[in-house]
Amino acid sequence: MFYRETIQKFNSYPTPFYYYDLEVLKQTLQLVKSESEKYNFIIHYALKANTNDEILNIIKSFSIGADCVSGNEVKKAIECQFNAKDIVFAGVGKTDNEINYALEQNIFCFNCESLQELEVINELAFSKNKIADIALRINPNVNANTHKYITTGLEENKFGINMWELEAVVEKLKSLTSLKLIGLHFHIGSQITDLNSYKSLCLKINEIQNWFIQRNIKIENVNVGGGLGVDYHNPDGYRFADFKTYFKIFHDFLKILPGQKVHFELGRSLVAQCGTLISRVVYIKKGMNTNFIILDAGMTELLRPALYQAYHKIENLSRQQQESETDRKQEKVQVSPIFKYDVVGPICESADCFGKAVILPETFRGDIIALRTTGAYGEVMSSRYNLREQVKAFYSSNGYEK
Ligand code: LLP
Repeated sequence: MFYRETIQKFNSYPTPFYYYDLEVLKQTLQLVKSESEKYNFIIHYALKANTNDEILNIIKSFSIGADCVSGNEVKKAIECQFNAKDIVFAGVGKTDNEINYALEQNIFCFNCESLQELEVINELAFSKNKIADIALRINPNVNANTHKYITTGLEENKFGINMWELEAVVEKLKSLTSLKLIGLHFHIGSQITDLNSYKSLCLKINEIQNWFIQRNIKIENVNVGGGLGVDYHNPDGYRFADFKTYFKIFHDFLKILPGQKVHFELGRSLVAQCGTLISRVVYIKKGMNTNFIILDAGMTELLRPALYQAYHKIENLSRQQQESETDRKQEKVQVSPIFKYDVVGPICESADCFGKAVILPETFRGDIIALRTTGAYGEVMSSRYNLREQVKAFYSSNGYEK
């Protein structure tokens, strides 16, 4: 629920735009810090979820590191004054330029995903007379039970080094003298709500660690990736991901060796709930079997529903405001009848649909519509297809109404 004053403010801004509530962000970060510090776990923020300066500055101020997947993300993290020694750099296709840049910045660690990548980093580090700290990203073949496009930890996925390649990789490492193996890295997928997947991951990591122990290879860091899911259906009821249970699972099931550090790379669970895409109804249109609400935001501003059939809660803030005003006057009457709508965008693609048969109060041209839980993978995945304007962002620290 948004405060009345916030909705009134929305009325005066040009739509569509992303609204970020920095208070919600700070509360989330406080929680993640306090729950992870119980076990001395180290958190890196996965920049790919949202790279807004305001958001990055707040995250950095909580002494959280950065997880980057491109040279530009490493650059952005450095510009926003994340400590280079807290930056990890992953990705299956790091280019020479990106590797060279990260080497010059002396980042904490390259999470390496293939034998050939190891050879290239070794060569580039050698020519700079440096030793590159690396972690092996191992594909643990653990099912994250999430959408197939955001599953990364199965053998069929392009990510990481498969278990059956490990022997060859470790053998090769002996000759790659400009690399120093400092850790293992895993990431099984995103929007994971079945936390049992993490238990399976821990057990798999324990097995893999044994494999290294048997070969007398010391592993100082274990990076378990990110992926913790958020509640898209009930953003007000469950504003924060279940960090408590999540970290406890790693504490209970991961065998942490003496002196070993455990790292996490969280993206969505830190920023999703603080963001809302605010849009305006351009037209109401009668279809064959349904009524359409046509918004001024589309898949160009929020791609997730078109790409992953993702659910985002849709609210009509103009009617919500009217109804709560009536409530306040104790008139307890239903202001607007309830309708079912297909809520769509203006883009010339049939996939440009935010929700089918969405139950909403009767909706009119000009109403303000909120697409909730869009702080992660919303604005960063926006495009200018159809020559749309680049979507803008507004910030406040109002918090949401309880
Ligand atoms: N670490 C690695 C190696 C990753 O690939 C990812 C996400 C993360 C950490 C952070 O995962 P998170 O905590 O945010 O789940 N665009 C998709 C999500 C793609 C996630 C890609 N990797 C979506 O909108 O659902």
